[in-house]
Amino acid sequence: MEPALTQIGLQMSQRTGVRAIMKDIIETLRAEAGREFINLSAGNPVILPEIEQLWRDCTAQLLASPEYGEVVCRYGSSQGYGPLIEAIARDFNQRYGLNLSDRHILITPGSQALYFYAANAFGGYAASGQLKQTVLPLSPDYTGYGGVSLAPEALVAYKPTLEKDEQAHRFKYRPDFSQLQITEQTGCIIFSRPCNPTGNVLSDEEAQKIAALAAPYDVPVLIDSAYAPPFPALNFTTMTPQFGSNLLHCLSLSKAGLPGERIGIAIGDPQLIEVLECFQTNACIHSPRYGQAIAAKAIASGQLARLAQTVIRPHYQHKFEVLETTLDEAMPDSIPWFLHRGEGAIFAWLWFENLPATDWDFYQELKKVGVIVVPGASFFPGLREDWPHKQQCIRISLTATPAEIAEGMKRLAAVARSVFQR
Ligand SMILES: Cc1ncc(COP(=O)(O)O)c(C=O)c1O
Repeated sequence: MEPALTQIGLQMSQRTGVRAIMKDIIETLRAEAGREFINLSAGNPVILPEIEQLWRDCTAQLLASPEYGEVVCRYGSSQGYGPLIEAIARDFNQRYGLNLSDRHILITPGSQALYFYAANAFGGYAASGQLKQTVLPLSPDYTGYGGVSLAPEALVAYKPTLEKDEQAHRFKYRPDFSQLQITEQTGCIIFSRPCNPTGNVLSDEEAQKIAALAAPYDVPVLIDSAYAPPFPALNFTTMTPQFGSNLLHCLSLSKAGLPGERIGIAIGDPQLIEVLECFQTNACIHSPRYGQAIAAKAIASGQLARLAQTVIRPHYQHKFEVLETTLDEAMPDSIPWFLHRGEGAIFAWLWFENLPATDWDFYQELKKVGVIVVPGASFFPGLREDWPHKQQCIRISLTATPAEIAEGMKRLAAVARSVFQR
């Protein structure tokens, strides 16, 4: 059967960004089933034994408590499960000296849903017919933003400035405030901090500056904190979560070991929260409550924040160090390679200036030596202008073992050498 699809139907039934590449990766792995690949493409977090145990323990407590029936056998409020909202308010008030009430918090089925609600509640066509933009102030950024807007023309990203350390072969993106336009045409702003794919962390000042530029227009700024403290605390550099009247602090429990349970959390002004809550009621009524109930226990006991710092962060930070050291040893100095400063998240981002091939060709060459990465071009959603840099980067996941990462980087160095010698 071939149903006639609407414009939105067509658009939403496409695989966008990295999903399209994942299809190629899955097909490669299937077609060459006997071959051992070093897979450095995965976005799925590693199952860490201490974290799995935490979720098991919380589940056992839930099963043993009279709360169980109330949690799974009944509908609840669209805003989220009460004990989870309370646990978050208490934790954040204590930790950051805030004064949050339950009205400041919304639980969504994963944080991706949150960006979808926001991009369509604040971005898109206004009643006046004006197109309100969803602005990504620093491209590259999370590929998932590429599919969130029902009016794709509303998604607008800005090229960054590059801070390069030629000798050390390192670089860092910074927002280009000379280009960034936040006006009455802006509907909302989204950026990830720490950033997937680059591992960049916008400084507190940069985040505050973006919020200040948006404030006069009452534009909500969503700081995607999927990798931020207090959990999963995947920041390798100091950073302070930012709060403010036009800021929505958006968390995800996916990288804290619960991606299967789909838990996103928005913290911000009750008026913004209410808009998103109503959107959610229309979309799916509410998030599943089992995951919320175990998350309430892990947050209220302080265990999640503690394990994030003592287990999750060191696990990935160590792997970044392995990657960095191996590249420094194996890469020829004569090649213009630049590793993005590893400030957080679970990825490394590598840029080859003047790469004499595309990122896609480079990805194919790496497959030939048994290494799978993600070509970088899919991480520039909303950036329409031509920019050679878009085809010069790759994303390397830190979810493989340290030995695989080291071996993968050695093979990558050999491929880079041969590509630059062509
Ligand atoms: C930066 C960023 N934001 C949001 C998400 C979506 O996370 P979830 O919907 O699982 O909360 C991801 C997932 O990888 C991510 O990397």
